[in-house]
Amino acid sequence: MSPLLLTRTLPVDATDAALRADVLHGLTHRPKTLPPKWFYDARGSELFEEITRLPEYYPTRAEREILIDRADAIAAASGARTLVELGSGSSEKTRHLLDALPELHTYVPVDVSESALRGAAEALLEERPGLSVHALIADFTGALSLPGTPGPRLVAFLGGTIGNLLPQERAAFLASVRSLLSPGDSLLLGTDLVKDEEVLVAAYDDASGVTAAFNRNVLSVVDRELGADFQPADFEHVARWNPEQEWIEMRLRARRDLIVKIPELDLVVPFEAGEELRTEVSAKFRKEGVRDELDRAGLRLAQWWTDSAGRFALSLATVD
Ligand code: SAH
Ligand code: AVI
Repeated sequence: MSPLLLTRTLPVDATDAALRADVLHGLTHRPKTLPPKWFYDARGSELFEEITRLPEYYPTRAEREILIDRADAIAAASGARTLVELGSGSSEKTRHLLDALPELHTYVPVDVSESALRGAAEALLEERPGLSVHALIADFTGALSLPGTPGPRLVAFLGGTIGNLLPQERAAFLASVRSLLSPGDSLLLGTDLVKDEEVLVAAYDDASGVTAAFNRNVLSVVDRELGADFQPADFEHVARWNPEQEWIEMRLRARRDLIVKIPELDLVVPFEAGEELRTEVSAKFRKEGVRDELDRAGLRLAQWWTDSAGRFALSLATVD
């Protein structure tokens, strides 16, 4: 079995500094916000995997259907020898791509969640002893430096995670992905699509409360890492469709007046009863919007595939 190469591109104290900066900024501005990347400690990554199996959460199943149907076409069009996957999580759906890429030299999963990366990479190496895996613990919104493996390179960004970035962040992100690509390389992008509000809200407010637990988990991360005294049960899970922005917002609503202490930041944060902290946006897309955003980053939409119910899309983009 090939050894697992795991590179931490950010030192632990840089992650800590980023969390401090995000919490300080997000909890001292109105409306209060926290960036969604802090959901994903080991528990958050497990809860996300549970979400993917919920009956209400259709995106994972829809994207898997497209990957199964189109893996050969993606392999033929990309001819990839290196597959880089941003926000790879469990790499569960990626197996369909790995199986279809005959010339693959190295798989490079990139994630902030070390536990998810290790779990995924170890399982893959056990199942596929010949596969070369070079995992990167890194923030995909920062400058990425990729290992010097052979091209063509296929960069996959699945799950609809691009929707968790705000529009300006998406533009910067796509420009930085473009800078990783050379002629002949491609981007495989998963986007969830605009659909009925009831279907969307149910996907983010499931009956068994797993998404609520995932949402509150960010408070446990701040408690553990920064010594804060959030009581997650003091906050109600809210999932709301914003029709102007065409995104779902996840929020945490204070059930009563509260004062939260964050000793590591020397900060006291008051919440009024009913006040909401936004923890995530999950944008939903239309084909023309995806094409425009790719265009603006210097990427060309070459293929657009949806699942049979038209809920989710995979785009294959090439460089101009
Ligand atoms: N691609 C998988 C997992 C999606 S969950 C799927 O489709 O099922 C989102 C993943 O992105 C998580 O594993 C999370 O840890 C990772 N992630 C979120 N923000 C990130 C960031 N800024 N940089 C790197 N990884 C990030
Ligand atoms: C990772 N990302 C695409 C998920 C989403 O659907 O926006 C995260 C998530 N949030 C709540 N449920 C799942």
